Amino acid sequence: MASPADRLRQCLRGNDGCTPMGREGEAEKIRDVLVQPKSAVGFVAGPPGSGKTHTVRSVVAKCMEDEDGKEGADGKEQKEKAVTCWINCMSLSQPGDLYRNLLGAMEPTTAAKGGHDAKEAWKSMLRSMRNRNRTGRRRSSVVLVLDECDAFVAARTDWLAEVQEFCLLVASRCTLKLICISNSPELAGRLMPSLQKSMSHTEIVIFQAYKTQEIKNVLTGLLQGGGLLDWFSPSALQFCAKKIGSQSGDMRYAFCVCMRALELLLGCEATDSPSLKEADIVQEKRQAVEMEHMHAAFQDNGHGGMSKPSNAITALPLHQRLILFTLSKGVLASKDKNVTVAQLTTLHHHYERNCRKRLVKPLSFQQVATACKDLADAGLVQIHQSKNKKVGDTAYKLCRVADVRAALERSHLTTT
Ligand SMILES: Nc1ncnc2c1ncn2[C@@H]1O[C@H](COP(=O)(O)OP(=O)(O)O)[C@@H](O)[C@H]1O
Ligand SMILES: [Mg+2]
Repeated sequence: MASPADRLRQCLRGNDGCTPMGREGEAEKIRDVLVQPKSAVGFVAGPPGSGKTHTVRSVVAKCMEDEDGKEGADGKEQKEKAVTCWINCMSLSQPGDLYRNLLGAMEPTTAAKGGHDAKEAWKSMLRSMRNRNRTGRRRSSVVLVLDECDAFVAARTDWLAEVQEFCLLVASRCTLKLICISNSPELAGRLMPSLQKSMSHTEIVIFQAYKTQEIKNVLTGLLQGGGLLDWFSPSALQFCAKKIGSQSGDMRYAFCVCMRALELLLGCEATDSPSLKEADIVQEKRQAVEMEHMHAAFQDNGHGGMSKPSNAITALPLHQRLILFTLSKGVLASKDKNVTVAQLTTLHHHYERNCRKRLVKPLSFQQVATACKDLADAGLVQIHQSKNKKVGDTAYKLCRVADVRAALERSHLTTT
């Protein structure tokens, strides 16, 4: 039998397919976009962990299910099924990636033949769309979700232009239902004016950070569903919800803390291998996570990969994470991946390359030096002034290497 910690992990991870609790209003607005007969766009914005991805995912899945149900009931000539394409924009690294991703979803075989040339991918997509339209059936319909669009706002403006051009082109060939998800609402202001003309319906959906009661409801609901509620004392859950509700309102963090607290109770490490089986515990007096475990979980600087420091790293601004990423790669003059120290000149050079790979406009030399100071304040970087006092020769050393690497892994920076 799986340990309680494993069951909790499954319960929190497996939750992704379920309807989000307390986000009914937001879900309805997103649904409105998806059920439009013509092309439509929805901009979803809100702070990290406010349930944006989760809600959009569940609404899209539900709409697809409803579509399938309707077709089955009609029993008539089936209309072409909508293609769903989900793109995490942090994983885009070069122009043309948008096309390649969409093509991959629509025509996997053509995409495979398209090779790595963006232009080729683009051409084959046009061809495939033309072929589809020639078949005389309804225009094909595409549900396109662009998640984590914030990179576009900070990035070179030509990226934004590409998104715009891409969406307009797709909308001219297909019925496009576009959902853009970002933390900042700025994207809507940037893209809305140009897209509005070709979209019959536009919607802005703002997610507020979760409040104490909402966090408590979600946690209680999920734990109950997973048969794990009596592993947590009500006061411990209240403490967790209150602390997070009064700060970031980040549900992801609430999950992490509960996970860590249960691990602390069970005395096992935050690994995937359970060290204590439920049976062992049931035989003893039934225990539960109490305030002290929650408190320790918040304090915890451990290496659970789910603990507070890595969460704080995930929440850092993009450029600070890119700097950490650059340092953590051990890029620096040495081939040794464990050398995580670099002088500003070298660091800036590699950081710029990493930015370019992700089409993010790099910060200037001086700005990087300032960002490094912020990272030093956060205890993530150590600064070693050079003897000659030259700015470029100042060395920066990465601290808490394991935490940083674990956090960056989760924040998609290591995917390219
Ligand atoms: N209302 C909710 N009900 C259940 N789980 C939720 C809810 N909101 C968020 N979650 C969970 O919290 C985590 C973070 O949510 P997510 O949608 O990824 O946040 P965002 O995209 O806003 O950063 C996910 O594991 C998600 O399943
Ligand atoms: Mg998200």
